[in-house]
Amino acid sequence: MKIIKSLVKNILWKIWTSKTLKYLDSLEQESNPKAKRLAILLRQTIKGEFSKEEMQWIEKIENLRADIEKNTSKVNVIDYGAGNPQDNRSEREMYNGTINTSRVCDINIASKRPFWAKVLFKIIREFKPQTAIELGTCLGISSAYQSSAMILNNSGRLITMEGSPELVKIADSHIKGLGISNVEIIEGRFQDNLERILEENKPIDYVFIDGHHDENATIDYYNLFIPYLKDGAVLVFDDISWSKGMKNAWKIIQKDKNIQLAVNFKEVGICIFENKNK
Ligand SMILES: C[S@@+](CC[C@H](N)C(=O)[O-])C[C@H]1O[C@@H](n2cnc3c(N)ncnc32)[C@H](O)[C@@H]1O
Repeated sequence: MKIIKSLVKNILWKIWTSKTLKYLDSLEQESNPKAKRLAILLRQTIKGEFSKEEMQWIEKIENLRADIEKNTSKVNVIDYGAGNPQDNRSEREMYNGTINTSRVCDINIASKRPFWAKVLFKIIREFKPQTAIELGTCLGISSAYQSSAMILNNSGRLITMEGSPELVKIADSHIKGLGISNVEIIEGRFQDNLERILEENKPIDYVFIDGHHDENATIDYYNLFIPYLKDGAVLVFDDISWSKGMKNAWKIIQKDKNIQLAVNFKEVGICIFENKNK
């Protein structure tokens, strides 16, 4: 069974990469030079082209992921997000949160898988943002990827936000355990803290939105970010095909006049921002 699963996974990966590599060829032909930079870094990630120092960080973080996969201890998690697409949680329900007791190894399913985590890493290496904001820390895997890329850049810091106090504690120990110190974790609902965080840390030149997964909330966060973003800021939206609502949110955001370039990779959407209200 395990062999069949990994065989199927391999075939699907091959189909996806050959399709994506073709798409990257056309992305590279676009007149926007940032499209070319995105295409190159995606291609490098698919081909596994990383320097020795980059590989050292990736291996360290993947070792941590392997440890997490074995961690069966249970924690109480409060989720302020949409849950599953079929949950249809109301705004009030999401604001109040849903409490669950889960094993750490099961929570880990929500962590960005190695390929997309490496794409985030490459984006940071290529665009060298100074102030990055992440919505959705969870166990700290994507935070570790993004902040370690900033360490290799010799500049930049990550502010990551998480609503669940138990997850904040675990993510903090994971990040500290990796010897990373350029990350600040903000505990609490995004809705309650984001505006203050943006005001205190502007201008922002990189955003990764990987939490809440609700149409209106995602659009609201994007609108909240606009006045605080630097021209050329990179915005990464996760799970843009996850639900009808998330598909709608992506449709609306990518058409916004301030989005200079929008690339849809089905699971992840990447935008380059340029403020047209100046
Ligand atoms: C998909 S996980 C993040 C995974 C992480 N970025 C990674 O790849 O390692 C989403 C996280 O966002 C948090 N979250 C969802 N909605 C939230 C909200 N409205 N306020 C604060 N945290 C929220 C959840 O508790 C969860 O830990």
